[in-house]
Amino acid sequence: MPDHSNTVAIVTGAGHGIGRAIALRLAQQGAAVCTMDINGQQAEETANLLRKSGHKALVKVADIADFGAVDRAVAETEAELGAIGLLVNNAGFTDSGDIDGISLADWHREVDVNLNGPYHCLRAILPGMKARGRGVIVNISSVNGVRFFGNPAYSAAKAGIINLTQSVASEYGRHGIRCNAVLPGSVRTKNASWEIRVRKDPDVFRKLARWYPLGRVAEPEDVANAVSFLASDEASYITGVSLPVDGGLLAGMNVMIDEFILEAKD
Ligand SMILES: NC(=O)c1ccc[n+]([C@@H]2O[C@H](COP(=O)([O-])OP(=O)(O)OC[C@H]3O[C@@H](n4cnc5c(N)ncnc54)[C@H](O)[C@@H]3O)[C@@H](O)[C@H]2O)c1
Repeated sequence: MPDHSNTVAIVTGAGHGIGRAIALRLAQQGAAVCTMDINGQQAEETANLLRKSGHKALVKVADIADFGAVDRAVAETEAELGAIGLLVNNAGFTDSGDIDGISLADWHREVDVNLNGPYHCLRAILPGMKARGRGVIVNISSVNGVRFFGNPAYSAAKAGIINLTQSVASEYGRHGIRCNAVLPGSVRTKNASWEIRVRKDPDVFRKLARWYPLGRVAEPEDVANAVSFLASDEASYITGVSLPVDGGLLAGMNVMIDEFILEAKD
């Protein structure tokens, strides 16, 4: 089992959904976790869950799109918990429309949070990791980063994270730093875009399941398991990869095959 004892981790967006599951998993495996989130109440709720089960947790409120706020939060975390050994760049969102429907302001905000935000966290944390000669980063991208599944601003930013992951892995490997990305498919969270879809159709996750070779959408814990592995010493020779955690979605078009190709043979 992955062991994260003696690791100080920052998990961005740890106040909710996938980030909360990641924070819980890392804490269960020994990490002291800073739950960094724009929503202080949610970040506090996650930290309290960790503390109730006997784990060390710290809350920092920061908008990752604001480099100054991130830099301060990182410095305070290092002062209170010690040197940061693990960064999980998880915070992100989408609520925008298609290319001709999205406002310029919405495009900029999605890129600011989903791409510039993770870069801000890297920029604040990498110098310390480099000086110590060790560190691990896991970036949460998406299957949207490699195929078009809607939300173009979000998707462009998530594609950027994949390349950023490769840049960090290449430039910092010699300093003992590993950097990998995780690409979730549909994950059953209550994020704003899923809440809108669930309100329109309460059955949306069951209907989506047919597109996934494994026959279900992901739970946040499926992503947390992958993050925990990539962050652990068990992955000590893995860097620069983008790991789909997508039930096989990117592996093939099984709905197309079932409906059009196999049917044609009847
Ligand atoms: N849920 C999915 O289906 C899915 C699929 C692929 C990738 N992802 C990615 O996983 C990550 C988490 O998604 P989720 O579904 O758990 O979302 P969520 O909305 O449930 O949780 C996101 C958390 O990030 C925080 N956050 C948002 N903007 C922030 C900002 N600017 N600064 C700091 N914190 C901020 C929110 O307050 C919230 O606590 C995101 O990067 C998302 O793009 C999600």
